[in-house]
Amino acid sequence: MKILVINGPNLNLLGLREPDIYGKEDYASLCEKIKKHADKIDCEVELFQSNHEGDLVDVIQEAYGVFDGIVINPAAYTHTSVAILDAIKAVGIPAVEVHISDVSKREDFRQISFVRAACVATIAGHGTDGYLEAMDILSGDAK
Ligand code: DQA
Repeated sequence: MKILVINGPNLNLLGLREPDIYGKEDYASLCEKIKKHADKIDCEVELFQSNHEGDLVDVIQEAYGVFDGIVINPAAYTHTSVAILDAIKAVGIPAVEVHISDVSKREDFRQISFVRAACVATIAGHGTDGYLEAMDILSGDAK
């Protein structure tokens, strides 16, 4: 199974960015953790991060016919992007939405998720372990 892990804007600044909310782990070590987990559950994984909405749409489109599952943390675009929702729907690849923080307990503007409607599951508030749980769901390894 091939899984694409997509991270949206400002997630490249993990570790530096509001560590009380997002933790002290940086993006590079998140990538390592995801790759290790992929080995463990016998999946191939690729990682992509961008601060640009159109780049996120492009990589979702390019995943068609290549990847069997998408793990996506669209970051701030979660709450604004119909384009990312439409891209996930268009390619029809099973996708899991991940948020490091528990968005349900944060500001009102974070209560809307456009992408959720195209995702088979949402994991929020489990820190970066949420990415691994999302991979387990896609691979059928979820406990
Ligand atoms: C986030 C939550 C979003 O509201 C925020 O804009 C992010 C990160 C999370 O992982 O908790 O950038 O998706």
